[in-house]
Amino acid sequence: MKIEPAETDPASQSRVRAAARVPEGREGQQPIISCRGLVKKFAGRAVLDGINLDVYPGETMVIMGGSGSGKSTLLRSLIGTFQPDGGELTMFGQRLNGLRERKLDEVRKKFGILFQSGALFNSMTVAENVALPLREHTDLGQEIIDIQVKIKLELVGLREHSERLPAELSGGMKKRAGLARALALDPKILFYDEPSAGLDPVTSAEIDRLIDDLTQKLGVTSVVVTHEMDSAFTIADRMAMLDKGRMIAVESREWFDRLRKVPTEEAAAMSHDERLIRQFLRGDAVGPITERRAATNYADDLLGIYQPRGVPPPSVEATRAVE
Ligand SMILES: Nc1ncnc2c1ncn2[C@@H]1O[C@H](COP(=O)(O)OP(=O)(O)OP(=O)(O)O)[C@@H](O)[C@H]1O
Ligand SMILES: [Mg+2]
Repeated sequence: MKIEPAETDPASQSRVRAAARVPEGREGQQPIISCRGLVKKFAGRAVLDGINLDVYPGETMVIMGGSGSGKSTLLRSLIGTFQPDGGELTMFGQRLNGLRERKLDEVRKKFGILFQSGALFNSMTVAENVALPLREHTDLGQEIIDIQVKIKLELVGLREHSERLPAELSGGMKKRAGLARALALDPKILFYDEPSAGLDPVTSAEIDRLIDDLTQKLGVTSVVVTHEMDSAFTIADRMAMLDKGRMIAVESREWFDRLRKVPTEEAAAMSHDERLIRQFLRGDAVGPITERRAATNYADDLLGIYQPRGVPPPSVEATRAVE
């Protein structure tokens, strides 16, 4: 697909595109997750500002964005940790806004979550950790639970470590144990928050392969928050880019890959959002992200001067005179 040059209001065009387009080959299909105009505020500030996102069954959607762009907040809103302040969230065709807690729990049973730390219970063995959701949410007998636990641990390559405590595991093993637990109830959707953060490149690549494997073997839908670009391009079918709480693009991996490779001399003709995404993907030192940071008043920042909007800052000389 051609990367289109900037037109009248490029930023809003990107957002409209992010909102409306059904991906190729998905025409007529219902998304398994659908957000429309999702808003989440903290202390009156919109950290998610009208998010539109559709995720289709069986795909791996990677959510990217700089630190503080709202990735974890979006993930937490999707899994129901946060009640959104506006907009609509639909999962499995069911509107979740205003749903009673008991009904929400029914929906939650259909997805698994891998938190950054693995979030294992330290006093329980790996096997006990994986068994926990089965004990809490099913009437299965011990023997069946044991078999289920073995199957899940085998899937993540940890069956022979089932009796270890979390403290006796490496970072990568903890992630895999967390993943086995997330798989315990045979989820339809798996949510991952930074699955490869803090891991060495090889272990990180192993986790990526595992995510891919699970998608193939189990047909689960995955939503993965990451700012590791190698990982993102390895596992994604489609990718979504957040910037300061706005969803600025939801496109195929190939689209992002082409954007990443646009030569610098051609990049000048692209829209602001596309140049911003390109800089993020490439990790370039120069571009809209760094221009934005440089635009904040450096002298004020250094001197710690609070400057209300519209009020001219005191000069450096005046500040010295007061001291
Ligand atoms: N519970 C909270 N209370 C108040 N503000 C919050 C809360 N959680 C997040 N924020 C703010 O919301 C913004 C987005 O945070 P979020 O954790 O979603 O970013 P992120 O994209 O996941 O960043 P990172 O890559 O660093 O994990 C930040 O400005 C953060 O300070
Ligand atoms: Mg985060």
